[in-house]
Amino acid sequence: EKGGWSSFMAKEISEQPEAVSNTLLGRIHNDHVVLGELEAIDELLTEIDRIVILGCGTAAYSAMLGKYAIEKWARIPVEVELSHEFRYRDPVVNASTLVISISQSGETMDTLVAVQEAKAKGARTLSICNTQGATIPRESDAVIYTHAGPEVAVASTKAFIAQITALYLFGLHLARVRATLDDETIATSIVELQAIPDKIRWVLEQHGEITELANWMSDSRAVLFLGRHVGFPVALEGALKLKELAYIHAEGFAAGELKHGPIALIEPGQPVFVVVPSPRHPNSLHAKVVSNIQEIKARGAKVLAIAEEGDVAVLPYASDVFRIPLAGPLFEPLLAVIPLQIFAMELATAKGLDVDQPRNLAKSVTVE
Ligand code: F6R
Repeated sequence: EKGGWSSFMAKEISEQPEAVSNTLLGRIHNDHVVLGELEAIDELLTEIDRIVILGCGTAAYSAMLGKYAIEKWARIPVEVELSHEFRYRDPVVNASTLVISISQSGETMDTLVAVQEAKAKGARTLSICNTQGATIPRESDAVIYTHAGPEVAVASTKAFIAQITALYLFGLHLARVRATLDDETIATSIVELQAIPDKIRWVLEQHGEITELANWMSDSRAVLFLGRHVGFPVALEGALKLKELAYIHAEGFAAGELKHGPIALIEPGQPVFVVVPSPRHPNSLHAKVVSNIQEIKARGAKVLAIAEEGDVAVLPYASDVFRIPLAGPLFEPLLAVIPLQIFAMELATAKGLDVDQPRNLAKSVTVE
């Protein structure tokens, strides 16, 4: 079933271009997003005043990206919360709140109970799920299925990419329903999404260079990940992948937090992945991230940059640079996360670990 791949994870990483195209399939007509599955809640979408997105682990990171996109496009406040925190703190939600749950399996107990809690408080619920007919979508008022195909490896890869795609489709749909974006901006964003599969293919071609770095770093004791804006969830996801697969202490930080504590961790030789935003975006945070890179480099960090093709500003400071093609500001995570997935998988492989079945973990967490 692995079809010639060394692991399900390797296969699933390689299937990410199709995970995006299949999630887009049939949902774009004449430059508009069409989500027929939202019929039951479509009227509500103009009435809600707030959105809460729930998930655990990787799903919570796609939720964060959903927040950035939905707030930007649909101008509605979005909060992201871990399902297990939400369910135990008597959260404030009501009939004007849309609660979106994200779950690959659709069976994660904490997320299921959080959805039930939200319903009991009168909220409407939308599920973003990869598994047809799973419990969470059955308990929700509406569901957008991601079409990533079955994900077998415990660590989530293609489901994450498909979740982001689905959230962005939803964000664009909401922007149209609420009239917060003009048609042209929606059309441009749709073109961005449609271009992602080929751009992912381009990133996947760097597999060899990433493997070399991973082999070389296989005895690392700790690895840090920095990102800003949409690069922040990418940093968190890169760290989570490395923890779960390679059993290496890894932390993701918002680059702006460095001075507020984490910079104390930097000592000579400390590897730090930095997700660098494009220098070409308007109001780019590029200069700020490059200045963070200078600060950690000055303290001896080994900087591993993920940066846009052609960005030369990182070259004087980075030991390695992994390139991603130019994409709009919100779309970079769909590309930048890929080298980090491959890095974690290859480092675990170099350590002789089972990348599909990491110790102590289950594919779906159906208990508390
Ligand atoms: C990370 C990972 C977990 C899951 C989390 C939620 O690689 O696989 O963090 O993302 O357990 O699972 P689902 O999406 O099935 O609710």
